[in-house]
Amino acid sequence: MNPAPVNAATYNDTVVRQFSLMAVVWGVVGMLVGLLIASQLAWPELNFGIPWLSYGRLRPLHTNAVIFAFGGCALFATSYWVVQRTSQVPLFAPKLAALTFWGWQLVIVAAAISLPMGYTQGKEYAELEWPIDILIAIVWVAYAVVFFGTIGMRKVKHIYVANWFYGSFIIAVALLHIVNSAAIPAGFMKSYSAYAGVQDAMVQWWYGHNAVGFFLTAGFLGMMYYFIPKQAERPVYSYRLSIVHFWALIFTYMWAGPHHLHYTALPDWTQSLGMVFSLILLAPSWGGMINGVMTLSGAWHKLRDDPVLRFLIVSLSFYGMSTFEGPMMSIKTVNALSHYTDWTIGHVHSGALGWVGLISMGSLYYLIPRLFGQKKMYSVPAIELHFWISTVGIVLYIAAMWIAGVMQGLMWRAVNADGTLTYTFVEGVKATYPFYVIRVIGGALYLAGMLVMAWNTWMTVAGGRATRAAVPPVVAHA
Ligand code: HEM
Ligand code: HEM
Repeated sequence: MNPAPVNAATYNDTVVRQFSLMAVVWGVVGMLVGLLIASQLAWPELNFGIPWLSYGRLRPLHTNAVIFAFGGCALFATSYWVVQRTSQVPLFAPKLAALTFWGWQLVIVAAAISLPMGYTQGKEYAELEWPIDILIAIVWVAYAVVFFGTIGMRKVKHIYVANWFYGSFIIAVALLHIVNSAAIPAGFMKSYSAYAGVQDAMVQWWYGHNAVGFFLTAGFLGMMYYFIPKQAERPVYSYRLSIVHFWALIFTYMWAGPHHLHYTALPDWTQSLGMVFSLILLAPSWGGMINGVMTLSGAWHKLRDDPVLRFLIVSLSFYGMSTFEGPMMSIKTVNALSHYTDWTIGHVHSGALGWVGLISMGSLYYLIPRLFGQKKMYSVPAIELHFWISTVGIVLYIAAMWIAGVMQGLMWRAVNADGTLTYTFVEGVKATYPFYVIRVIGGALYLAGMLVMAWNTWMTVAGGRATRAAVPPVVAHA
């Protein structure tokens, strides 16, 4: 970090600081709600008979808070940091960048109020009603202007690969959000989808799957391509592979959505197409994972005493796991067993807690001290503690859901010789109970890790001060 001489051009890190801190705050909130709904599944009386605390309303609050508030703030923060450093210019249109921060926080608060009140469009991950959707579209277009404006002003000829991933995430999310949220308002906070029947379902899962592909994956791959080389102090293993990775991934993701609609009214060929593209997706996903992990070539020893690097690398092993599991689950005969069961929830959280969560935490641990003029976080042993309790938490969570899921699938399909069902539905629910309790324990550990991070962040910020980093006057390598 080079402190800025008076009058020198400086990077705009105010907005990076704001988004980084809010990522930690929303992480705690979203995971707390996750823990509450996990507990409600084990002990339904925790609904307390209060409508706005009921499971059906808190579940979308959880998903929106962890994906769009926690994940979203981490993506905004890191993309704004990365695009400035790799372009060697301050952010384009800083006022618009400030608008993206305040606008995004407004979206989150509006979600946190309207979802528990029961306002919803009923589309998963796109529940928010039309006035909030319009606000999201405005913020997102402003984000695109700031990001691509900065790229446009760059002093470095080459556009570093992390920016390609961030850029595709920004463009794809704008497209997905605007198309899937098209609706006819029927009053304030009430609307009907512009699509009907199976077309509505297909548009929704084209959106839903690409929300995974671009919101939960491409942007975080941008983080991977910047923060792993930085923290490991090694260049990307293969830059050529990173380019192949980029084009193969973004091309393939767009076609895989129908795997969410196996055995539905969707034409059979469309389902098979979704399955085939999902199987192909294994290749670019693993290519990218290998590229990230191999960046550590010659520096493996750093994993022993650098917990930040461990967050970043272990996130990739979960990425590899969930992108192996996903293609398997997209095979129609496997999906016949896994769909509707907790196996899906296990898959989701190996990606969400393991990949999205850990890579965000690792990147934030890299950023926060630098944003507040410190060499490192206040407590490195606390990062170490965070790493271990969250990893144990993830393993408990996903192992419990895998066992529960396969068990449910097998129990539901078991039939007696006379064709009657072997188990009643409630027997399946009873058999799942212990696994729901294990999930609560795993979730509590993961949340505890996040609380340790919040404390460590607080102490780092309290002992530091906001810094102004100078933009290098001559073009150097990022
Ligand atoms: C303390 C940590 C967490 C706990 C205890 C937790 C718990 C839960 C629970 C109980 C559900 C509902 C499952 C069901 O309906 O059967 C759920 C759904 C979900 N959670 Fe989490 N969660 C946590 C963290 C996260 C994080 C960090 C993310 C994303 C970055 C995430 C993303 C999701 C998604 C996408 C779903 C919907 C899954 C689906 O519809 O298939 N969760 N979570
Ligand atoms: C090659 C990559 C992947 C493929 C092919 C894939 C495939 C699948 C399949 C087949 C399902 C089950 C659909 C169903 O039965 O309804 C699913 C669900 C899901 N996956 Fe993946 N997955 C991949 C990677 C990931 C990653 C990395 C994440 C998270 C970061 C993730 C998040 C989710 C979510 C949130 C759902 C639940 C959607 C819902 O029903 O609400 N997936 N995925």
